Amino acid sequence: ATTALADRFGRAATDLRLSLTDFCNLRCTYCMPASGLTFLNKEQMLSVDEVVRLVRIGVERLGIEQVRFTGGEPLTRPDLEEIIAGVASLPQRPDISLTTNAIGLDHRAARLRDAGLDRINVSLDSVVSETFERLSRRPLLHRVLAGIDGAREAGLDPIKVNAVLLPGVNDHELPDLLDWCLTRDLQLRVIEQMPLDADHIWDRSSMISAADVHEMLAPRYSLAPVAEARDGAPAELFEVADRATGHHRGRVGIIASVTRPFCADCRRTRLTAEGRVRTCLFSREETDLRGALRSGADDEAIAEIWRAAQWGKKAGHGMDRDDFVQPERPMSAIGG
Ligand code: GTP
Ligand code: 5AD
Ligand code: SF4
Repeated sequence: ATTALADRFGRAATDLRLSLTDFCNLRCTYCMPASGLTFLNKEQMLSVDEVVRLVRIGVERLGIEQVRFTGGEPLTRPDLEEIIAGVASLPQRPDISLTTNAIGLDHRAARLRDAGLDRINVSLDSVVSETFERLSRRPLLHRVLAGIDGAREAGLDPIKVNAVLLPGVNDHELPDLLDWCLTRDLQLRVIEQMPLDADHIWDRSSMISAADVHEMLAPRYSLAPVAEARDGAPAELFEVADRATGHHRGRVGIIASVTRPFCADCRRTRLTAEGRVRTCLFSREETDLRGALRSGADDEAIAEIWRAAQWGKKAGHGMDRDDFVQPERPMSAIGG
């Protein structure tokens, strides 16, 4: 029987974000230290069968409707196609999406789509090579662009582009980045930086906020809120028109986790790459499921541990509270 993943604030999690690895081939400053981290080994990470089983338990017993694979960089797992195929062939099939940096996607997009991948979001903060390298500490912009092209050729649609704006690094490029995305029919989502960087340099006062984004876009574009209901989604969507001509160009999203938190409508539960439940990006605790999986626990026993963990989910990230403490693990290790 299905008993929803409820918490004591009246929310039910229907979206599972599952990190497949903590490794990444980039070193974005807001997500990972320059030196990298001590990465998990293969034995520590969930196997294909373990991932598929956990998703099945989530769907059959806990009301999970959507699964998003994240990382680290999920494409660094050679068995990603197998994982997606396994999840796509479950009797109750969830919506399957991927958040990726797109490196190597050109060679794998068609196979991933055939395996059952429904949608992708690509993290891309700049289309200027020098800026990309400064931000990601790797000279690999051309590979990301090839990956996006490959995904389009494979027919993955929609493709969303996630950009975190860092003051003095890529913020001034925003109008051009939006133009670049609109021209290619990619939906840009501009993201407020959250305090999940390894070096703990996040500073709320200099963070580029949703209000700053509106101000930066105003000279070139006019933005109008979309008609559809937001429905719990992190992104607020706007119709974009060129200011000079009034010509409609497409849409842009703004994800204002810091200045306009959406925690009260949160529908998320997460699993880390080593199989621990994390009820929020900003949780102080994690609850292990891998131990139960590997010691022969039955489906209901695992579902019950997961439910108990989710019940402990906090009301929100609490960034505005005096006692807010940044999570010890950076974004790459939590799962984006
Ligand atoms: P869609 O299904 O396409 O709407 O995906 P999504 O926007 O939920 O997922 P994606 O992985 O593309 O994440 C986009 C951004 O949302 C990330 O860059 C984060 O900044 C932010 N985000 C992701 N998960 C959470 C979360 O649990 N809480 C908060 N506050 N922000 C999150
Ligand atoms: N703040 C906001 N977004 C972040 N991401 C990674 N680190 C942070 C952060 N500190 C984003 C990436 C990716 C998504 C999964 O999370 O850009 O698109
Ligand atoms: Fe949900 Fe936590 Fe993200 Fe808020 S910060 S939206 S509670 S996962």
